[in-house]
Amino acid sequence: MKNSMIINADIKDGIINRNIYGHFAEHLGRCIYEGIWVGEDSVIENTKGIRNDVLEALKRINIPVLRWPGGCFADEYHWKDGIGSRSDRKRMVNTHWGGVVENNHFGTHEFMLLCELLNCEPYICGNVGSGTIQEMSEWVEYMTFDGESPMANWRQENGQQEPWGLKYFGVGNENWGCGGNMRPEYYADLYRRYQTYVRNYGDNKIYKIAGGANIDDYNWTEVLMREAAPFLDGLSLHYYTIPGDFWLGKGAATDFTTDEWFITMQKAFYMDELITKHSAIMDKYDAEKRVGLIIDEWGTWFDVETGTNPGFLYQQNTIRDAVVAAIHFHIFHKHCNRVQMTNIAQTVNVLQAMILTEGKKMILTPTYHVFDMYKVHQDATLLSVDTNIGAYKYKEKELQQVTVTASRNTKGALNISLCNIDHKEPSSISIELRGLKETVKDLSATILTANKLDAHNTFEEPENVKPADFTNYKLDENSVDINLPPMSVVNLTIQ
Ligand code: AHR
Repeated sequence: MKNSMIINADIKDGIINRNIYGHFAEHLGRCIYEGIWVGEDSVIENTKGIRNDVLEALKRINIPVLRWPGGCFADEYHWKDGIGSRSDRKRMVNTHWGGVVENNHFGTHEFMLLCELLNCEPYICGNVGSGTIQEMSEWVEYMTFDGESPMANWRQENGQQEPWGLKYFGVGNENWGCGGNMRPEYYADLYRRYQTYVRNYGDNKIYKIAGGANIDDYNWTEVLMREAAPFLDGLSLHYYTIPGDFWLGKGAATDFTTDEWFITMQKAFYMDELITKHSAIMDKYDAEKRVGLIIDEWGTWFDVETGTNPGFLYQQNTIRDAVVAAIHFHIFHKHCNRVQMTNIAQTVNVLQAMILTEGKKMILTPTYHVFDMYKVHQDATLLSVDTNIGAYKYKEKELQQVTVTASRNTKGALNISLCNIDHKEPSSISIELRGLKETVKDLSATILTANKLDAHNTFEEPENVKPADFTNYKLDENSVDINLPPMSVVNLTIQ
């Protein structure tokens, strides 16, 4: 079969919300401490305590929104412990993640500074599991009240005169599990109650996100939508790509088999089914798609690297992770009329990270490079694509070998991203560019690929896997014949 696809440059399928390229940083392992926050006295160059190398790298990928402080940590976090003079802040035990001491040096002011430096929107997750309504309500007042009030006065005493802008607020996290082990009926009622006191002060309008379902818990979505839809702006969904079993062994991040490669691809594609089914339930209660599906935790989850704290979730990141990220973006784009934000877990040193650090050293992962290549799709118009693509056959199973997404950005550039998920076979494709007003003159291409299943970057060899110019295509008028190597992500840009 000859592979072909048609990019319909004149058929628009929606807008890709830039927040689909969002991130998540939790007080977990070495994500916040070491990965982002080193403190003002560190030998590592920093801006008011935030390491500069990480800051610069994150700026390059245009992070639109950053979720914090968790995750499971959020439902044990008491924000008042993390403000005021750092030396006086409470030292607590991070019971969920490794039982280590949390000194609270990175708190609300430090997080808001990070967002300011990154020029991204803060997305704060409040504590429903073990916190009070008053505590949540006062946090919002502390951050956003402009005028005289006990919390606003306290913020000013702590050095922040102006209120911060806060758009996104999560009312709990995984409340079916670490966030309180609740039943959906109970959480729906609690959500309604807590969110009442998440106030809009002045011009600050908060987009409220309810803790959503775990994977295929469709009943959770059903109950939340049925009982609380008018009170929420977003409903979350968590799904991680785990080749093995969560409890019995997830599989290694490197040094894995071709079986594991295939299963990982299969499990990454499962996100499409999940979004389709959760969206169908949401449609029943919200046909206008006012409520966003917020996938505020996704990504690969493997066994931790040998010798590291099992509670720190530190894993390497290979070309396989890059392909998984590309698959996810293609799926998220496809559902962009419902999916308004996603947050990969997590930014630095945890799970499918963008960046790994070791003391002063920092490396960019293959996943980082996909975020960099794909930033062109942020806020762009999704274009319709027809595909006729062969299968990636593995043993008795098969998956579509190549996935694609195309968009036109506000400056008029057309970006086509393709991903060959096959670990062995290349793919030749004829791409017809339909609906363009002019003949294509200016086409450029970038590729991220590798010739080993687990190719990755290390502190010794930080550039094993990195984007390169791509020339293995032929442009003839408005059609492109392209040859994608196995395990590759390619971006074509037409100006
Ligand atoms: O991202 C790691 C953890 O996974 C988060 O804290 C939790 O919400 C999820 O179970």
